[in-house]
Amino acid sequence: MSAVDPSDSYALGRSTAETRRLIRQAQIYGPITRQFLVSAGIGTGMKVLDVGSGAGDVALLLADLVGPRGSVVGVEMNPVILETAQARVNAVGWTNVTFIDGDVTSIALDDDFDAVVGRWILMYLPEPVAVLRGLLGRVRSGGIIAFQENDFTYPPTTFPPAPLHQQVMRWTTPPTGSDGPDQQMGSKLHQTYLDAGLPEPQLRLDAPVGGGENWPGYAYVADTVRSLLPMLEQMGLLSSEDVDVETLADRLRAEALGLRGVQMLPIVMGAWARKP
Ligand SMILES: C[S@@+](CC[C@H](N)C(=O)[O-])C[C@H]1O[C@@H](n2cnc3c(N)ncnc32)[C@H](O)[C@@H]1O
Repeated sequence: MSAVDPSDSYALGRSTAETRRLIRQAQIYGPITRQFLVSAGIGTGMKVLDVGSGAGDVALLLADLVGPRGSVVGVEMNPVILETAQARVNAVGWTNVTFIDGDVTSIALDDDFDAVVGRWILMYLPEPVAVLRGLLGRVRSGGIIAFQENDFTYPPTTFPPAPLHQQVMRWTTPPTGSDGPDQQMGSKLHQTYLDAGLPEPQLRLDAPVGGGENWPGYAYVADTVRSLLPMLEQMGLLSSEDVDVETLADRLRAEALGLRGVQMLPIVMGAWARKP
């Protein structure tokens, strides 16, 4: 989830906690992103560019969708994360996924992609319109441009309202207007596409929602707090004693179960259009 810039936690290395966080993230957001990519028209045999690959989750979904006759090229500027991405791709045996270590705003890339895709990337870029416009030059005419971004205009929540969940959501949701990633990039996708010279995009909004004993969201939220804790402590906003991160997932689960409630995690908005 990207209320957090996970770059730092990725950079912490392939720690067990970080690996667990990525696995849960893939469990929670993977199906949503997969459906988004299918809606956008990604399919067998395509050559797809994945922008800001991170630990490779989207590249792995794309590899599955394009199959052995397609190919995926991922661009990522953090070499430490790239190692994780490459190791994950190797582990499942794809040979048609390649990663390039570089900055998407300046790197030289092929110009015959069938699609350019990104998740949780435009929100990190200072000039998303300019980047999108540049990426258009990498896609063939009729190719797909598909991006999925968070939007905290609609913050994560629970039903019914639950005090511990509410407190944790406040810790993990940056105030509007704060530095860092654009918290409203999801809602801005439409305008960003138009400003980049694309036709009116199709849009969808998804949110992971779940409850019950086995919902991975409790642990995922606790993992997010764990990775934010050093920063939040440094800012004097809370202390590790207040949080008791080791028991947090269990307490969130108990709270939700006690209320027979559901937890809604950060939403993702997706936009897709075809290059004229
Ligand atoms: C929040 S992560 C998302 C990773 C992945 N797309 C996913 O959905 O799991 C954003 C990634 O974009 C990378 N990134 C940010 N700016 C970039 C740039 N200008 N060029 C290449 N990668 C960039 C970061 O290093 C980080 O790994």
